[in-house]
Amino acid sequence: MVSLPTRYSDVSRYADELVAFLQEPLSVQITGGIHVNDAFISDAWDKLPAEWTQWWESLTSLRDAQDDLIKSLHKDPEARKVDLPGRPESLTRWLERIRNISLDRDQLVLPREMEHVELPRATISRIKVTKKLAEVQVAARFIQHTCRTNNIKRVIDIGSGQGYLATTLASVCGLRVLAVDGSAKQIDGSKAAARSAGLAEGKEITHLVRFVDGSGSLGSEIQAWAGGEPCLLTGLHACGSLSEHMVRLFTRVPCIARLTVVGCCYNHITPRSPSCPNGFPISQHMRRRNLALSASALVTGCQAPTNWVPNPDSRFVRKYWYRAVLEKMLYDKGISTAGARPVWGIRTGDLESFESYTKRAAGSLGLKMGSDITDEDIGLWNRLSPSTDVSICRSTRRQMSAYCLCLITR
Ligand SMILES: C[S@@+](CC[C@H](N)C(=O)[O-])C[C@H]1O[C@@H](n2cnc3c(N)ncnc32)[C@H](O)[C@@H]1O
Repeated sequence: MVSLPTRYSDVSRYADELVAFLQEPLSVQITGGIHVNDAFISDAWDKLPAEWTQWWESLTSLRDAQDDLIKSLHKDPEARKVDLPGRPESLTRWLERIRNISLDRDQLVLPREMEHVELPRATISRIKVTKKLAEVQVAARFIQHTCRTNNIKRVIDIGSGQGYLATTLASVCGLRVLAVDGSAKQIDGSKAAARSAGLAEGKEITHLVRFVDGSGSLGSEIQAWAGGEPCLLTGLHACGSLSEHMVRLFTRVPCIARLTVVGCCYNHITPRSPSCPNGFPISQHMRRRNLALSASALVTGCQAPTNWVPNPDSRFVRKYWYRAVLEKMLYDKGISTAGARPVWGIRTGDLESFESYTKRAAGSLGLKMGSDITDEDIGLWNRLSPSTDVSICRSTRRQMSAYCLCLITR
């Protein structure tokens, strides 16, 4: 279902142009040559082309600039009709290149001939999020159609979680399902759901606790379960490198005839390194072109740009903003914390203000409020120039290409 952007018909040429674009110095800078957390430390703003930053700074509201960047990505000319006046030609051309090279992200509308799948009542009542409900429904419909048209009766669902999709496929679509998840707790939940849907374990549905990491004998277990019949391999929100392991299973396990995978959490993708020779990217084509994506590119590459619209309540922006400001504060005060890049769990409440964020971070990093960090520091740093607002947002625009790249290399 991934279609190339309209101006491309050859996938290799598309992949080459995408890599070439991402390897241009400006792209490298924006997609993580400067880590998003270091945006202030490294003066990311000043390293952007001067005519762009001067134009953004000349606007009455930087939120307009942010909005302009987001709208510029829309492929539908109607949606970007109101370009801000005075935008430098070089920026317009650059945004146009991003738009032309980006894969479509429009809502997937399945064709009418794909028969509707009515989710079981028990599944509907268990799914609390409307978006998830729609995803399971679309996935079930697509898989049912693919299986019917290819005479496939068996489906392997990897990262099956609570079994929303697996139990739907087994109970409504008449498919035999192998549900695999690395978490015993998730499998227990899925087994309970299957029982209440009246599915017989080991017959209509089979559960397996297996952590998939490219090693182990899962391929042979799948072959044995399939008993010589062709299967479809699926994964809905297969986190990080799990999608890559599924692509490998697809290419290596003979009974797997079709693959339908929706990846997520690209920040959990393990990059290729001497200690992880099978890491990202997995395609030889990309490896030969020395493609590498930074942690920043992977983190922001899986975020929907529309979440970055000017919205004071948006946690997406504040999370990066506060972190970058805090990093700069610690850097300027000469405070170094243990480890290369400290991590701490952020709770929703921590993002209420820069003060609450800093206090929580200080606690986790073993810093003393009142001496290491004072209230004056917080007040001072909280007033950091809002131009970063655009800088960070802008880096997200570029992540669209990183996002495409993740898709295309799988
Ligand atoms: C985001 S959840 C999606 C669950 C389910 N597919 C859904 O859409 O509701 C990802 C699931 O994959 C499982 N998982 C993540 N990495 C895995 C791995 N390497 N091997 C097996 N399971 C994994 C997690 O335990 C979790 O249940």
